[in-house]
Amino acid sequence: MLTDIEMVWNGLEEIRRAAVSEANPKYRKDLGQVFTSVSVAQLLVEMFSDWRGDVELVDAGAGVGTLSAVAAVSALFSGGGLTSMRVLAWEVDPELAVKSKQSMALVSECFDEAGIPFEFEVLNEDFLHRAAQKSLGLSSDGATATHVILNPPYAKLSSFSNERVLAERLGAPVPNLYAAFMLAASALLKVGGEMVAITPRSFCNGSYFKKFRRALLSQNGLVSIRVFESRICAFADQDVLQENVITHFVRGEVQPEKVRMQVGDPGGLVTERVVPLAEVIFSGDRDVVIHVAESEDVASATTFMQELPATLETIGVNVSTGRVVDFRARQWLQIEHIPGSVPLLYPSSVDRGGVLWPSSGSKPIAIDDVGSTASLLTPRGNYVLVKRFSSKEERRRIVAGPLLADAFPECPRFGIENHVNYLHRQGRPLSRQLVIGLSAFLNHKLVDVYFRSFSGHTQVNASDLRRLRIPDRATLEEFGSASCPHEACSEWIHSFAAAVGISGIEEVDLVG
Ligand SMILES: C[S@@+](CC[C@H](N)C(=O)[O-])C[C@H]1O[C@@H](n2cnc3c(N)ncnc32)[C@H](O)[C@@H]1O
Repeated sequence: MLTDIEMVWNGLEEIRRAAVSEANPKYRKDLGQVFTSVSVAQLLVEMFSDWRGDVELVDAGAGVGTLSAVAAVSALFSGGGLTSMRVLAWEVDPELAVKSKQSMALVSECFDEAGIPFEFEVLNEDFLHRAAQKSLGLSSDGATATHVILNPPYAKLSSFSNERVLAERLGAPVPNLYAAFMLAASALLKVGGEMVAITPRSFCNGSYFKKFRRALLSQNGLVSIRVFESRICAFADQDVLQENVITHFVRGEVQPEKVRMQVGDPGGLVTERVVPLAEVIFSGDRDVVIHVAESEDVASATTFMQELPATLETIGVNVSTGRVVDFRARQWLQIEHIPGSVPLLYPSSVDRGGVLWPSSGSKPIAIDDVGSTASLLTPRGNYVLVKRFSSKEERRRIVAGPLLADAFPECPRFGIENHVNYLHRQGRPLSRQLVIGLSAFLNHKLVDVYFRSFSGHTQVNASDLRRLRIPDRATLEEFGSASCPHEACSEWIHSFAAAVGISGIEEVDLVG
């Protein structure tokens, strides 16, 4: 091959860098414009398994076309029996569509030299509407794409947006545009065709994406998952600091028995484990949460958690979100604990395994205990507080603390702020031992390791807590009665793991 592949990559990177520096900030935000580098694109492209024959490749929300360009050139250089390539790149921004054509021109030169037919079309139109129109009018026999690659735009969708309605017609109402793109893109695939997407990890868990996961997985087999070693590196050069995941699906209704789980950064070593599907999506899980166990240790933590006998529901514990929305209750908030007010607990109160009040900072610390606030307050008693969002500095995603009645002898009620979830029994307090024991368990490293396997963000949803498997009530109360609840919890975890025959738990730093 005459063309030096490095020159093609450099040419594509130049086009991309120009787009990043010239991007109109308003378009960038409104159209979710984040551009994939060649090295990250290569990570996606490596996941496709078959480039033989006549390929029709769709790039949905193509930007400057880096993904499809890298895919097409890699397919050509793979020497794997490619006989022709047709690229359909959809990009709504006209300036980027022009740049996509420049990228495709570089690709075209490579194909010309190799004597393999190459065609491309850059469609400067709304992908979602056109793809939905196209695929809704088609049976799966009529779909023509063999490969789809995408880094779809990120934008929250309101309940009545057109995009959400379209996605619903394609299988599920979705809370974010990226998920709508995934449904529309996969619908263009022939049965057996492959889709590789880089997206936020947020669709892997949480109730908002449940119907989406069900629809996606009823139409496509999940073949492999790739995550980055340094979790947020994919688009760090464009100040996008969210956790991404690369997923690889094959169109068709059957799920494979095994899933390839890969971890690696661009240009670095990629480690791979092939795991049973049931380790990724638990059998019978109606929420179809997708777990990404990046290593054997995480897999052991996941297996261990599945063996636990109870859930919050089975031990009669409910999860609610704190009822004080501070900006709506401003008139009743106090910066001092004055007579007639009661403690107001913010996330900053949940600290180092306990509940500190008043916590330091500039927030109000109390709320008036008056008729108008009655519905916002919680009767004094023992509860577990769990932060709904952990900060980046925090070692754990789940940060829990026991709110103990005897630490607040004079207070008839508490105000719990809306960024805190609290655990209770039908609005009533829990026993002191249970609250201490549950907090020790939820703060445990093992729970953190497990939690990170399905949640890629710092948010802890009430639905995530409800799904967690936990020790039974008596065991939790034993932790809560011990002089050191954390140690009691660790010891029990070791002996329970040994009893059910799970090894590898020691590798998870239990004391960390
Ligand atoms: C996250 S960027 C990814 C760009 C490119 N795929 C990449 O990886 O570099 C998403 C792209 O989708 C485009 N886009 C947003 N909404 C679109 C729509 N409805 N139809 C087609 N393209 C759209 C944006 O302009 C943006 O270029």
